[in-house]
Amino acid sequence: ALGASYPQEAVTPRRTARPLDEVTPSIAGPGEFHNAADTDPSVTEHRTWAQRIVAGDEHRPVQVAEVTTEAEVDDVVARAARAAEIWSQVAPATRAAALRAVARRLEEARTALVTAMVHEPRKTVAEADPEVTEAIDFANYYARSAEQLEEIDGATFAPRGVTLVTPPWNFPVAIPVGGILAALAAGSPAIAKPAPPTPRCLEVAVDAIHLGLLDAARDAAESGADTAFDEQLARDVVQYARVPDGDLGKRLVTHDGIARVVLTGALETAQMFAEWTPERHLFAETSGKNALVVTPAADIDLAVADLVRAAFGHAGQKCSAASLGILVGSVADLRTRTGRRFRTQLVDAVRSLRVGPSTDLGTVMNPLTEPASGKLLRALTTLEPGEQWLVRPRRLDEEGRVWTPGLKTGVAPGSFFHTTEVFGPVLGLMTAATLDDALELQNAVAFGLTGGIHSLDRSEIDHWLDRVEVGNAYINRHITGAIVQRQSFGGWKASAVGPGAKAGGPNYVPELGEWADGADVP
Ligand code: ALA
Repeated sequence: ALGASYPQEAVTPRRTARPLDEVTPSIAGPGEFHNAADTDPSVTEHRTWAQRIVAGDEHRPVQVAEVTTEAEVDDVVARAARAAEIWSQVAPATRAAALRAVARRLEEARTALVTAMVHEPRKTVAEADPEVTEAIDFANYYARSAEQLEEIDGATFAPRGVTLVTPPWNFPVAIPVGGILAALAAGSPAIAKPAPPTPRCLEVAVDAIHLGLLDAARDAAESGADTAFDEQLARDVVQYARVPDGDLGKRLVTHDGIARVVLTGALETAQMFAEWTPERHLFAETSGKNALVVTPAADIDLAVADLVRAAFGHAGQKCSAASLGILVGSVADLRTRTGRRFRTQLVDAVRSLRVGPSTDLGTVMNPLTEPASGKLLRALTTLEPGEQWLVRPRRLDEEGRVWTPGLKTGVAPGSFFHTTEVFGPVLGLMTAATLDDALELQNAVAFGLTGGIHSLDRSEIDHWLDRVEVGNAYINRHITGAIVQRQSFGGWKASAVGPGAKAGGPNYVPELGEWADGADVP
């Protein structure tokens, strides 16, 4: 009855064929028109919350002063060493309960954490919010790891002692929180040294961790389970130490009282730490030069969307970012329909990325945390032999923090852009005749962090999986944003230094301790 009175024919003329200009690219562009998602009440609620964050009224600069003397560094380590004696005696079940209390406090601190990330390193709300979720996932996952330490028979797990956590600035909450909580789960205290550009992010995170530990200490005292777990221990077992890089930083990293260093950072930093300290101390996840392979059997819409997301999320400032797209056969061939479609959609998608400040909710690609320099500046401003811009990056500010995205083609095997991590918003395309040729290009780099394939052909996928040399291999998915437990995260080849256990995976906490009785780490 409704249909009869509703003049459908008048507004929707029937067509015999779909006009070509209605074949739309898969990525929402900067166009004037948007869909009606705003009418969903949860979207409106989210927007109100996000508006409060970007307004920045609750943002504070870092409160804790920088450490300025050697004596202060020694004092931090001495307090941690005292805490190590007590914390190592706290039962794994109590440690697990403490981590779950921390998870609850991190959730309560979500707005403060997202605010710090939006205003300090300039992440978008869309990138910062899932980072808080990842930190909470680490807390709950490592709580379970702590409980499982008791279950391994025939071998005794012994905590190793004070763990120094030195995180990067690009994931200034999830990565340090993961390292700190893994150490706690393994019965070790943690000293957390923020990356110089992001002291506030870590400060807010450590405040939340302390609140959780204080909750747990109170519970332990009330139940009489662990009387040694008091307020003092809750404060000393995790210490926030704003130690500057340079001599004081070196004193901390090489301190006799430090048993383990958990580093996430550039390969150069890991190499420096490895020289300073015996390698057995070091647990490092370093750089990557990551590629996503697209074969003719791919769903082109999904491949383009995932490549763009992995290359330009957080302006490419992720060790996991896709820096290279390796196009196989017809995907690279502009004489074919597949090749033309891939090229048109990719160029359109890259051009459509809306660049702006992280305090604008419409921004898709935020500014760089630090002005572009060195390798990144070279990648943004220079073409190497054989390369051509498909989308040329433009600098939009004086300082060199705000850039439009860059897309280049013709990246030559063995060239600077093929092999060097640039850590910014430039994606390079390479071509390969076959999947084996693509694998050769993908595996030719020193690093082995993340990699992906887009193909709907199971035999291609299996062939690639058997041969690709990366810690995290993704199939028909973007290659950033590993999910705790499901995609435990870590590198291979030059992307890892140390035992190579993956964060958010079953070996991470066990590897942070010591196993007596000659048993292998499970
Ligand atoms: N864990 C981060 C990611 O997967 C680095 O993107």
